[in-house]
Amino acid sequence: MGKTTVAVIGCGRIARNAHLPAFTKMDSIRVKYACDIIPGKAEKLQEDFPIIENTVMDYKVAVNDPEVEAVFVLTPNDLHYTITMDALAAGKHVFCEKPVAINYEKTLEMKQQADKYGKILHIGVCNRYNRSVEILEQMNKDGKFGNIYHVYCSFRSFRAIPGLGGAFTDKKQSGGGVLIDWGIHFFDLILYILGGAKLKNVTCDAYCEMAKDMKSYKYESMWAEDTADIENGVNDVDDYISGYIRTDKASISFNGAWAQNIKEPEMFIDFLGDKGGARLSYGGQFVFTDGATLQSEKSTHEIPNQYLCEDEGFIQSLKTGEKTKGNIDSILESMKLLQALYDSSAQKKELQF
Ligand SMILES: NC(=O)c1ccc[n+]([C@@H]2O[C@H](COP(=O)([O-])OP(=O)(O)OC[C@H]3O[C@@H](n4cnc5c(N)ncnc54)[C@H](O)[C@@H]3O)[C@@H](O)[C@H]2O)c1
Repeated sequence: MGKTTVAVIGCGRIARNAHLPAFTKMDSIRVKYACDIIPGKAEKLQEDFPIIENTVMDYKVAVNDPEVEAVFVLTPNDLHYTITMDALAAGKHVFCEKPVAINYEKTLEMKQQADKYGKILHIGVCNRYNRSVEILEQMNKDGKFGNIYHVYCSFRSFRAIPGLGGAFTDKKQSGGGVLIDWGIHFFDLILYILGGAKLKNVTCDAYCEMAKDMKSYKYESMWAEDTADIENGVNDVDDYISGYIRTDKASISFNGAWAQNIKEPEMFIDFLGDKGGARLSYGGQFVFTDGATLQSEKSTHEIPNQYLCEDEGFIQSLKTGEKTKGNIDSILESMKLLQALYDSSAQKKELQF
């Protein structure tokens, strides 16, 4: 089969560290364009990844090129909507990084646009391609947990606010903080492993406490520091989040922190079933405890490169027409949940569905 011609929009960390390294291992892809609005950034990426044929600063050049079949949207969150809508209208398939958009309303519009133009819209949910997640999803289908009555997750770090004052901490550009940036991965996995679940009610509190005064925020290292603007930027997003969710299946409780005054990081999901339970270490292995034998066993499978598996799955889906497991249709519920959690916090009350 021939190569699929794609364009990469946004040449930041996820392009450099995840997708371009994956593309170089794939023989099914041709990267006609890399695009970034910062002068020289696409050229620097091209230098390091010669698979890139051309560089541009205006994404519309790439999106309107008839040779381009699919577009990878790897920009800050607020631009996912605009670029994806344009790309779909230009007849391109789209791989859009998570979160789909900065709110649920825009998420639904993007889904409708994909349907209108009959194109595939895949959302970056790399963790669904983690082998542990695939195994746990199957174990749940096979009844190994019995009834999963509760799920608890914790995504907490000591001092890890990214790019303080830049796109990550400006709600207009990001849609939120730790919940939309890290929480989305956790809730997506929970709903995925449960085999979907309908929301009944949610309650949540979001806090912006640790860097209220950006200049006095202390940290040992800051990821995305190149985008920080501590002098003139904005920080109005959640750095701590906590809440409780009832669904037609399990209830879910959670805590998340981009920053906290607790040193020990926690990144796991606990699935509590009446027959068995599992703790999934984020991005890693899991420990399953069998309620009948009282034995615990740690999984030992290889952890494949999730991004490579996901990118290959996307390109393959364009050829077969089969929807990927990250198709927009399967992401709507987790985006609805995220919106409900933010709304509950803003309105300071429990929301019913
Ligand atoms: N799936 C994952 O595990 C994962 C991991 C990291 C980031 N992400 C997502 O990927 C996206 C990008 O994150 P990042 O960490 O790479 O951010 P980044 O800031 O490092 O990169 C974004 C790039 O987009 C460029 N850009 C902005 N506006 C543009 C425009 N109009 N046209 C072209 N380029 C433009 C910026 O100049 C920047 O180089 C975010 O939505 C983030 O949530 C996903």
